[in-house]
Amino acid sequence: RVPDAGWAERVRALARQRDAVILAHNYQLPAVQDVADHVGDSLALSRIAATASQSTIVFCGVHFMAETAKILSPDRTVLIPDARAGCSLADSLTAEQLRAWKAEHPGAVVVSYVNTTAAVKAETDICCTSSNAVEVVASMPADRTVLFGPDQFLGAHVRRVLRRDNVLVWGGECHVHAGINGDQLAATAAAHPDAELYVHPECGCATSALYLAGAGAVPADRVRILSTGDMVQAASRTRSRQVLVATEVGMIHQLRRAAPGVDFLPVNDRASCRYMKMITPRALERSLVELRDEVTVDPDTAARARRAVQRMIEVGT
Ligand code: 13P
Ligand code: SF4
Repeated sequence: RVPDAGWAERVRALARQRDAVILAHNYQLPAVQDVADHVGDSLALSRIAATASQSTIVFCGVHFMAETAKILSPDRTVLIPDARAGCSLADSLTAEQLRAWKAEHPGAVVVSYVNTTAAVKAETDICCTSSNAVEVVASMPADRTVLFGPDQFLGAHVRRVLRRDNVLVWGGECHVHAGINGDQLAATAAAHPDAELYVHPECGCATSALYLAGAGAVPADRVRILSTGDMVQAASRTRSRQVLVATEVGMIHQLRRAAPGVDFLPVNDRASCRYMKMITPRALERSLVELRDEVTVDPDTAARARRAVQRMIEVGT
C-alpha cells in the first residue's frame, strides 16, 4: 500500500495529461489524500464536482460519492479507481423499499442522506449530508411529516436537535460507525478527562456522547457532533491539547495536518472502512492510465436525482 518514490509525481503528471481533477474523501489512505487536488467531506466534494473546470473527475471515495459527482456533472467523465468500493449504509435502503415507505405516508417529504444509490436519490425530495442534515430538515415546513433515511443515528441526531417527532427514521446503519459503541467511548473519555470529543453523527455512540455530557461525565462544551469536514474546521481552531475522535480512522490524517500540535486519538482504532481502503495508490494510478472504472448513471434516473442533490447544495448557500 505504500507507494514507491516516483508514484506521486507520476500521478500528478497523468492527471495533467488527462485533464483530470483528483478528489479524495477524508477517509482515504494518507498517500491518496496527499496527492489529491482536493480533500473533504461529502458536501464539499459534491460542490467541487459540480463546478470543476477539468473534463475528468477521479473520485477517490466510495461509489455513491462518485455517482453523485456524475449526477452533478453529466458531461464530465467520472472515474473511480475501484468500482467495488461500495457502502454498507447505502446498501441498507433500496429504491423499492423507499417507494413502499412513501406509499405508507402519502404527503410526506423524503430527505435522504447522500449515502444512497442514484435510484434512491431519484425517489427523494431533497438530499443531505452529515454537515447539513439539521439545516435541510429545518428548511421543511414544521407540520410536514419527513421520511429520513437511511441512517438511524443521523436521523436520531436530527430529531434531537430539532425536537421534531414528525421526522420518521429508517433503520439503516454504517457497519463502521455503528461499531464505535458507547462503552468504548465512555472508557476512552474517562481515561482522558481533559480531552475534547469529536463524534460523527453516524456513530452508534453519538447518543452516549451526549448522555455523558448531560450526566457531567464529560464537560458539555467538549463534546462536538461533527461531519468529517467540520472536524477539520474545529481542529484548526481548537485550544485543546488532546482530542478523542469517534469516526473512521482515515480522518486522523487530515486532523493532524490541520493541527500538528494536537494529539488526536481514535476512540476505536479498528474502525476502518474496507470500501474506502479499496482505493489504493496502485488503483489510482491505473485509473488514470486506463481511464477506468467509469461511473455511469442512467440519464432519467440522474435527472430526477439531480433535483434532490441540487436542492441540497442550495440550502445554506
Ligand atoms: P462526511 O460527509 O461527514 O464526510 O461522511 C461521509 C461518510 O461516508 C461517513 O461515513
Ligand atoms: Fe459507507 Fe460507513 Fe464506509 Fe462511510 S464509513 S463509506 S458510511 S461504509
